[in-house]
Amino acid sequence: MRDSEAAWRAALYGPSGFFTLGERPVDHFRTAPLVGPELAEALLVLLERVDAALGRPARLDFVDVGAGGGELSGAIRRLAPSRLADRLVVTAVDVGPPRAVPGVEWTADLPRSVTGLLVGHEWLDAIPCPLVSWPCADPWVRRWWPLRPGWSAEVGRPRDEAWADAVARVRGAALAVDYGHLLADRAAGRYASGTFAAYRAGRQIEPVFDGSCDLTAHVALDACAEAAGEPYMLVSQRDALEALGVGASAPAGAGMAWLDSAARAGRVAELRAIPGLGAFGWLLHAREIPMPLPPLPAWVP
Ligand SMILES: C[S@@+](CC[C@H](N)C(=O)[O-])C[C@H]1O[C@@H](n2cnc3c(N)ncnc32)[C@H](O)[C@@H]1O
Repeated sequence: MRDSEAAWRAALYGPSGFFTLGERPVDHFRTAPLVGPELAEALLVLLERVDAALGRPARLDFVDVGAGGGELSGAIRRLAPSRLADRLVVTAVDVGPPRAVPGVEWTADLPRSVTGLLVGHEWLDAIPCPLVSWPCADPWVRRWWPLRPGWSAEVGRPRDEAWADAVARVRGAALAVDYGHLLADRAAGRYASGTFAAYRAGRQIEPVFDGSCDLTAHVALDACAEAAGEPYMLVSQRDALEALGVGASAPAGAGMAWLDSAARAGRVAELRAIPGLGAFGWLLHAREIPMPLPPLPAWVP
């Protein structure tokens, strides 16, 4: 079981691993930061609330863990309103090669402490896990993904540990955004074959462990939530965006203004689509501040 995790890790992060050699998500799959600036706009509203709750600290962090091509970090830096911009330090964290993104600090390691908002956008799904099949006596599997004959699973413990470690560094809020699943559905067999998958150049392919493709699996976000601790909320991207002012809107205006507004409406629709990006889970932990989102319906993956 450890061998599968090691093979997955080598294929992504070994000397000739997929991410080590600098493959950018934009060339292989579509993530919300690549859709347009609207995700960053919503996260800046969240950051503004965190900043206010922290009492407007002299240094305000936005940390983008698993930053990929740096698109989210770059958009946050560019779009930050002046009341945040002077105090804002945007840090992109990625184990892949650093990218030149204006105004963004790039590092391979998580900062020791974060005062502000830490975001792991499609980070946890890129953390390798052991791949197992029934029968399996692993305590994580017994607790979080009880197996029946013929079923397979990914052991989410490395994601739990990575998320708990990241959250523990934060004063403010920590947000994981990812595709994932919940215990009730796992136990009912909705993911009986597991969710391990490979992508290359926009297509799902048969997994190979040679560094030529992205290897990923859905995230047990409920397990990550418990590992990082209360208080947290787990809601859908669609509901979270709505609560942050990025809701559905009809195109308005005339001429170029209408075209711009129609393009924006299309991008927002993509971020809100269910099934699609709107069904992604937002796992939000508040750290020494009140929860910066209002109560919302529980996430249904
Ligand atoms: C699926 S990509 C997501 C990129 C970007 N956040 C987005 O949504 O477009 C996952 C990224 O996480 C990075 N990553 C994985 N484990 C990491 C770690 N422990 N520390 C920093 N980055 C990591 C990978 O190198 C890869 O760039």
